[in-house]
Formats: sequence, C-alpha cells, structure tokens
Amino acid sequence: MSYAPTLIDNVFGGIRPAARALNKAASTIQSWHETGTIPQKHWNDIIIAAAEFGHILTAESFFPLSPQVPAQHGYSFDKPHCLSITDFHRVDIENLLELGGHYLDLSVQKSTREGPLRGKTLVNLFFENSTRTEKSFELAGKRLGADVISMNIGSSSVKKGETLLDTATTLNAMNPDLLVVRHGASGAPALLAQKLSCAVINAGDGMHAHPTQALLDALTLRQKLQETGQKIDKRDIGGLRIAICGDILHSRVARSNVQLLNILGADLRLIGPPTLIPIGAENWGVDIFHDMETGLEGCDVIMMLRLQLERMNGAFVPSKREYYHYHGLTREKLAYAKPGALVMHPGPMNRGVEISSDVADDPEISLITRQVEAGVAMRMAILHALSEAQNRAQIKAAS
Ligand code: CP
Repeated sequence: MSYAPTLIDNVFGGIRPAARALNKAASTIQSWHETGTIPQKHWNDIIIAAAEFGHILTAESFFPLSPQVPAQHGYSFDKPHCLSITDFHRVDIENLLELGGHYLDLSVQKSTREGPLRGKTLVNLFFENSTRTEKSFELAGKRLGADVISMNIGSSSVKKGETLLDTATTLNAMNPDLLVVRHGASGAPALLAQKLSCAVINAGDGMHAHPTQALLDALTLRQKLQETGQKIDKRDIGGLRIAICGDILHSRVARSNVQLLNILGADLRLIGPPTLIPIGAENWGVDIFHDMETGLEGCDVIMMLRLQLERMNGAFVPSKREYYHYHGLTREKLAYAKPGALVMHPGPMNRGVEISSDVADDPEISLITRQVEAGVAMRMAILHALSEAQNRAQIKAAS
C-alpha cells in the first residue's frame, strides 16, 4: 500500500476526519486515498494540520516508503535485465507503465534515503554521449535512495585501452546491484548481462535498441491521452495512428518504439527517404512511406528522429537543406496529419534539419519537454521493478 492511505488513516483517523481537518471535500481526500498520491501543493497544509493532531510530518512522509511494483493479473515483473523491448510481454510493459505513471504523479519527489533502492548501488557507464538518459538515470537512482556512481569514460582507464569487459568486470568487483550502460556496439549490454552478476539496463546500444526511451515515450503519450482523451476521441495508444519519421536506418529509438507500439496495438507508419529506411523494415509490422504528405495522412502522433550524421559512412541525403525541405516537420507538413496531432522527438534535436522551431516549441502540440520529464519517472519505475525482481530472486536462491 502506498503512503497516502496510511497517512490519512493513521494521522487523521480516516477520510471524513481528514476532510474536516484540512477543510477539503471528502471526495478530494477519497481520491488521494484511492490513488495513493497526495499532490505536493497540499503537503504544507497537511504538515500544519497534522501537527495539531500530534504528528510531525516532513516532505518525506508523503513518499510511498515501499510502493509495490503492480502485478497485472497476478503476474509480477520478474525480468533480471532491461535489454530490449522484445524481452518483455505486454503484461511486463503494462506493469512498468503503471509504476511509471505513479512516479510521474510524484515527479517533484526529492531524493530519499528511505526509497526502495536504499542500500543498493547503481553504476552509470556511458561510452557514448548523453544528456537526457544519463542524467535521468542518475536522478532516478538518487530519488529512490540508491548510491549512484556515474563513470566519466573520458577520465577512466578505458582511455588507456581497457576493454569493455575488463572495465565492467572491474566495476562488478565493487558489487553494484544495477548497471546502466550505453555503448556504440549493438549487443554490448547483452554481453555484459551474461558476464556480470548485477541487473543490466540498456541505455542505447549502437543502432539496435533503446528500450527505456520507448517506454518513456509510451508513458508520455498515455499521460497526454488521459488529459485530452475526449478532445482527440481516443484514450489509449492502441487506437492511434503513429508515424515515426526521418533517419529510421540509424535509429535505435525507432526500432524499440516499433516493437513497443506494435505490442500496444498502434497503427504504425515509417516515413523517410528510401536511403534511410532499413532493408527488411516492411516486415516490422509497419506501413512505409517516402513522402510526408501521404505518410502523415490521418496520423494522431508524429515522432521525429534526429539525422544521425555521426553514424553515416557516405552521403545518405543530398544536403541538410534538401532533407529539411522534403522531410523536416514544419507547420505546412503538420497540416497533412490529423488536426491536433501531437509531435514527439527523443532529443537531441537538430532544429531546421528534421524539425522547425515553431513546431518543436509549441506547447499545444509538442510533447518534447514532457518526454524528458517522463524519462525520470519511467527510469525510476524500471530501476524499482528490476530491484524488486532481484530481491525476490535472491530470497528464492537463499531458501
Ligand atoms: N534520447 C536520448 O537518448 O537522449 P540522450 O542522447 O541525450 O541521452
């Protein structure tokens, strides 16, 4: 049970006494009781009222001390690693998204030593540059109470020629519980998962997979749909037509999103020039288009991708200018999609290459900032779920 019901019952003696003490409608207190979450703007009033009842509360009192990873249909999340969306069943994804939604509601939660990762060590090992993924895992680990080490590869012994496995084995000797790894080679996190004794989380490997990005994208969309469900007439991802546009060939985000959105039942389209659509993509469960006008027709959501020039050997597009002309998302091209269509981008963005600033920065349609916010919550959920699965496996092994 999360802490809101405990707090309402133990401090105030139930929903009605709490409503009276806080001068709120009983239905408001009941919704906190049912959802397990009290919005932060009310914490101060509650702390003052609780003091009159002889209870000293702090901000940490509102944190669920050990929220349970939800179990859909009695099935608990039991995966040892997070390497690829293809390792998950729909029930795993639903469990993770539900826990992610819980942490999104608590998005302003500060670090706590009482969190479910208390006593655990999280190592961030990034061999490729990152802003969003690395920092959000660091924040997520700290907010859950873990000790977090972020390895700076530039100042590590990797620069002296140490191999990936030797670096990881060295870190493993420090007994981390969770290792978050980004690497330029597809399959590097899976290799580490075979060799190390901790849970491994793939934070992006080559062009292969970026599962936590796909999960946070789904969480962002779900949250937005819950807010605007009536307006766009659909309440879940399964009813949406979603276009993933641009440099599909080099994109691990596109691959993981195609896998996840197919599991959730979306009507999926890939749009890009023929040179940037991978061979075999027609077997991914998607429809493929090469021009934005026909591809965007009837789309509810448009996911734009960065042109990954650093992964290109040779010229895949004539020029950035021409690419923007034909495939960059502008107001004019947005008009080909459904009215009110939502725009996403995993970042980092190249403005004026794959997307115009006025589209990217329009809060009515752009979910780009929300994706970053959901990234912290989703990564909290992933770390928490893996940690609980690890605890259960250790108890089972010891018994
Ligand atoms: N979307 C994403 O992976 O961003 P970073 O490269 O900044 O982590």
